[in-house]
Amino acid sequence: MIIANWKCNGSKQMISTWFAEFIESYAPKDGSYIGIAPPMIYLEYIKRIVAEKSLKIKVGTQDLDVSNGARTGAISAEMILDYECSFSIVGHSERMQYFNEKNSAIKEKIHKLINVATPILCVGETYEENQNNLTEEVISEQLRVFEGLNFKNKIVVAYEPVWAIGTGMTPSKQEINEIHKFIKDVVQSSSVNSLIPSVLYGGSVNEENCENIFKSEFVDGALIGGASLDGSSFAKIVMSFNGSYK
Ligand code: 13P
Repeated sequence: MIIANWKCNGSKQMISTWFAEFIESYAPKDGSYIGIAPPMIYLEYIKRIVAEKSLKIKVGTQDLDVSNGARTGAISAEMILDYECSFSIVGHSERMQYFNEKNSAIKEKIHKLINVATPILCVGETYEENQNNLTEEVISEQLRVFEGLNFKNKIVVAYEPVWAIGTGMTPSKQEINEIHKFIKDVVQSSSVNSLIPSVLYGGSVNEENCENIFKSEFVDGALIGGASLDGSSFAKIVMSFNGSYK
C-alpha cells in the first residue's frame, strides 16, 4: 500500500503533468494498492482523470471532521462515504501542530470512519521524545484511539516520526522494523477483535531510500509527502514496493 499525501500542494497544471509523468514511468502490477490524498478541492478532478485513464488509483482525504453541520471548512464522514473515498488519513502530526488537534478528536474521527473508509492513523514521536527513549511510550498512547473499537475492515497505521517528516532524515531500517512490529502487537492486543493493522512508514521516503525501507519484514508500504508530488518519483517508489523496479 503506497499512499501519496499531497498536503496543501497542487494545481490543475501540476496534476495533469503528474499523471502524464506517472503513466510514462509506471509499470502496472495487479493487486497493488495505490492511493492519493489530494487537497479536497481537486478530488473530483483527480477522480475524473483516474477513470479516463483506467488507472487503479484510489482517492482518499487528508482528514475529516468529528461531525457535520455548522462547522465551516470541514468535511464529514458522511461526505467521505457519499463520495466513495477509499481511505482517510487521521491524526497527522501537522494537524496536531497547526490545527491544535488532540487525541480525543482523533479517536472520534477514527470512530466515524467505521464502515465508511479505511482509516490511516498517523503516529510518531518528536525528536526530543526519540532522544529520551520515549518512542514506544508515546506511540502506545497514540494507539489508544483504537481501544474498544470494533472494526470489521482493514485498519492502517502510519509510523511517521515527526523529526523525519520533510527533513531528509529517517530512522534506521532496523528501528523502523522494530517500531512497526511494536505497533502491530499493541493494536492486536488492544482492539476488540484482535485486528492486526497494516503499518506504513512515512517520513522522507524517496526513490533512493525506499528499497531499503521496503525490505523490512513489518513494513507494509509507505505514506509519502514531498516525493509523491512528482509523478515519476511516485511511480518509481510504487514499483520498488511491487518489486518490479531495480
Ligand atoms: P515527507 O515524505 O515529505 O517527509 O512527508 C511525510 C508525510 O508527512 C506523509 O504524511
